[in-house]
Amino acid sequence: MCGIIGFVGSERPLGGMLLEGLRRLEYRGYDSWGVAVGQNGSIKVAKKAGRIIATDPELPEATIGFGHTRWATHGGVTDQNAHPHVDCTGRFAVIHNGIIENFRKLRQHLLDSGHEFQSETDSEVIAHLIEQAVGDNQDVDAVVAAVRSVFEQMRGLNAFIVLDNHTRHLFAVKNVSPLVLGRSDGGSHIASDALALVDHVDQIHFVEDGQVAVIGPGKIQLVNQETGDPETLDWRPMTLTAVDTGLHGYPHFMIKEISEQPEVIRRIVTDEIEPVRGLAELIRASYGTFLVGSGTSSYAALSGSYLFSRIARRHVNFTVGSEFKYQEHFLTDKSLVVALSQSGETADVIEAVMAAQERGAKIAALVNVPGSTLDRMADYSVHLNAGPEQCVLSTKAYVAKVAVLLLAAHILNGSEHAGREILWQSVDGIEQLLSPIASDHIRAVAAQIVDQDHCYIIGRGLSYPTALESALKIKEVSYIHAEGFAGGELKHGVIALIDKGTPAIVFSPLDETRDDILSGAMEMKSRGAVIIGVSPENDEVFDIHVPVADVGDGSPIVNVVPAQLLGYQLALMRDLDPDKPRNLAKSVTVK
Ligand code: AGP
Ligand code: GLU
Repeated sequence: MCGIIGFVGSERPLGGMLLEGLRRLEYRGYDSWGVAVGQNGSIKVAKKAGRIIATDPELPEATIGFGHTRWATHGGVTDQNAHPHVDCTGRFAVIHNGIIENFRKLRQHLLDSGHEFQSETDSEVIAHLIEQAVGDNQDVDAVVAAVRSVFEQMRGLNAFIVLDNHTRHLFAVKNVSPLVLGRSDGGSHIASDALALVDHVDQIHFVEDGQVAVIGPGKIQLVNQETGDPETLDWRPMTLTAVDTGLHGYPHFMIKEISEQPEVIRRIVTDEIEPVRGLAELIRASYGTFLVGSGTSSYAALSGSYLFSRIARRHVNFTVGSEFKYQEHFLTDKSLVVALSQSGETADVIEAVMAAQERGAKIAALVNVPGSTLDRMADYSVHLNAGPEQCVLSTKAYVAKVAVLLLAAHILNGSEHAGREILWQSVDGIEQLLSPIASDHIRAVAAQIVDQDHCYIIGRGLSYPTALESALKIKEVSYIHAEGFAGGELKHGVIALIDKGTPAIVFSPLDETRDDILSGAMEMKSRGAVIIGVSPENDEVFDIHVPVADVGDGSPIVNVVPAQLLGYQLALMRDLDPDKPRNLAKSVTVK
């Protein structure tokens, strides 16, 4: 995954504008950055490993340019490996998102033909392949033909943009990795996320797989990548505004988005009922429903499988995105696959959906980005409407997915009102945890474990996915090795890891799991663990009690918030950036 931005239009200090767009996309990948502008005679490039600089790059005003933030897959995090990459002649520059699975063979062929490489990346082969395919031809059509043929040679999920300094055009093509076009009076834009185009364009078009976008002075055209035939653009109004992208007084997006969770749930209960009813009907009509997601979305999906069982007495399957394509042989045209994804661009989930579609299954999507790839692939979508989630850690989109699934389970059960009531209670429960007193308490808990290397988190029943999601929140933002377990699994090996002073977070809602999970807590305590109990009621086994509201089946929504806040505080205490943890990116568009 990476961030991509490009522009063709009236002359301007393009370097600064491109960097501003990249800063909005940096959450998608931040190992390095680079921008390039086309000038008479040559392409000027500024690129560097590390986070985007606060100042503007030293580049001349220009009418054409593009930029890239990298999440390295092939080649170390170095200045040389930063994109853009230039061909031998200096006519073409390329930025790329994805993995070229057959790049070694392509690279060797180019080396044998005399091409000289400047980087270790897979991406650079694109620049030299374009150079080789175009030769001295100066026509736009020749470059289009070259883009089509080069893309045809590449294996894997990729998107790339070529800047041709002779025709002064940008050429873009993709499969799965996202690209969106934008237009305004001042010129034409392209980006990997509409967020980067806010305040710059009036209309947007989501590039489909197999479309080549040709962006020149005063024109944007689409060409079919396979046939070369022209295709029409489906312009839609740009609805995102600058309000959606700012911090608004918060120090980080993570705490901003955690704080927005009550409003997100309110919106679902008041504005999203119809789409959720539609989802419930699809599940009712299906013969086999499969909830699929990756990372945090997979834990929302797992929560859903428990919720449909206990609320609607309905068996709903759960699988992580990257594993689904290995176990979809029994799908039929009566199956329903529900893809959960904040970004709507996660390659593992997209591949799962593609495999399901080949079996004729119906596809529903729970996504937070309208127009995203999964949104457009699905037969039916429920938009989470949580607002842009820019912290790499997913928080508000997680509780939104669980809330939608809880409501759908109640609708399926004929108890919609009860479902709404639980969500209203969950809103109150989250707000209690956002109070200054509760925040101070979480900060004190963080201070107790900030120097620990390991932390174990257990839950049973509905609290098991909560334990998994809580562990992910803590580990990915503080780098403490936090692991979540089913409470009953402790005695099957896990408990060997417990040492004196090991912090153990125990989720103990007032439900059928309480007695057993407290026994598990006692087993760990007797081996020296420090027990942190997240529960509506205190208990003698807790060394530290984190009080939460008793919200019944809404516990996966409320009980994850202390873990979100704990992760945030731990990151701050460890002087880490909670919005952009190392090695991660917001949208994982590579397999
Ligand atoms: C969440 O905190 C992680 N950053 C990651 O697990 C994320 O949930 C996962 O990559 C799936 O993203 P998606 O919801 O956009 O599909
Ligand atoms: N595979 C390319 C590289 O490692 C692109 C990675 C990305 O999508 O940022 O540079």
